[in-house]
Amino acid sequence: MVVATRVPPAVLERLREHADVVDVSDDGRDAWPAALAGADGVLVSSNVPIDTAFLDAAPKLRIVATWSVGYDNVDLDALRARDIVLTNTSGSLVETVADLTYALVILAVRNLGEGLNWVRDGRWLGGNMPFGHDLEGATLGIVGFGQIGVAVAKRAHVSGMRVIYANRKPRADDAATGAAYRPFDALLAEADCVVLLPPLSAETRGMIGDAQLALMKPSATLVNVARGAIVDTGALVRALDARTIRGAALDVTDPEPLPPNHPLVGRDDVVIVPHVGSATFETRARMAMLAATNLIEYLDGREPPTRVAL
Ligand code: DGY
Repeated sequence: MVVATRVPPAVLERLREHADVVDVSDDGRDAWPAALAGADGVLVSSNVPIDTAFLDAAPKLRIVATWSVGYDNVDLDALRARDIVLTNTSGSLVETVADLTYALVILAVRNLGEGLNWVRDGRWLGGNMPFGHDLEGATLGIVGFGQIGVAVAKRAHVSGMRVIYANRKPRADDAATGAAYRPFDALLAEADCVVLLPPLSAETRGMIGDAQLALMKPSATLVNVARGAIVDTGALVRALDARTIRGAALDVTDPEPLPPNHPLVGRDDVVIVPHVGSATFETRARMAMLAATNLIEYLDGREPPTRVAL
């Protein structure tokens, strides 16, 4: 099998106990086809496009194990056509991503990005500090209310926030989650902070554009922890420049990574972190081990624990 992303040494060791492993994680992509030619399984991360070019180079491939929950980098039709199994690391990062999400909510609502810039730029010496808004009593609107959304809602309740959510359809457990369903447009108009958590798909790509940003309150903020392409970046810049919304906090961007001269970088009203939602030593190790287990189980003829239904 081929490992095409740098994983912790313990994960490589475990894989090597079960199979011949070719580690191409430090090689340029032009060196990959030679290794892929004989591979029955491959471990990749979410920034590796699994497209027809990749799959054509791997005619013996039986399983793609991605070291991520998201798999928008994978051409699912191409996998189906070749009868290749896909696994992700579903369930392994919920609390970690919820922590990062709620950190961004606090940064955005309290306007802390501007505060950090003030200290860094010496503006603190000049006078009145920038204000933010209270979390207590504010409404958090979560778009894509799955496991991570529920964990974010728990944190928001501790701060005294009201929580509303938009999903394709209402959940049956609103009493347990303490969150109330709203249609998407109604959520955008009501929330003081909108958090985006849906997976990237044809349906969600660009779901936040000019029209949706125009529905938000001028005092509201946007937090994206899902995938950059869910937001139309040009529309976001326009909305921030026109003060249609007050600010944004982003763990994911489009493009990603953002070049340092991008119009979203260096602003007081935008906080950006470099796609670190699950980036803790503990969580990334757990995710990598789960990806390895998926490979080992499937190639040994058993059901992998977190297979994606194709
Ligand atoms: C995920 O697991 O999908 C994270 O965004 C890392 O890619």
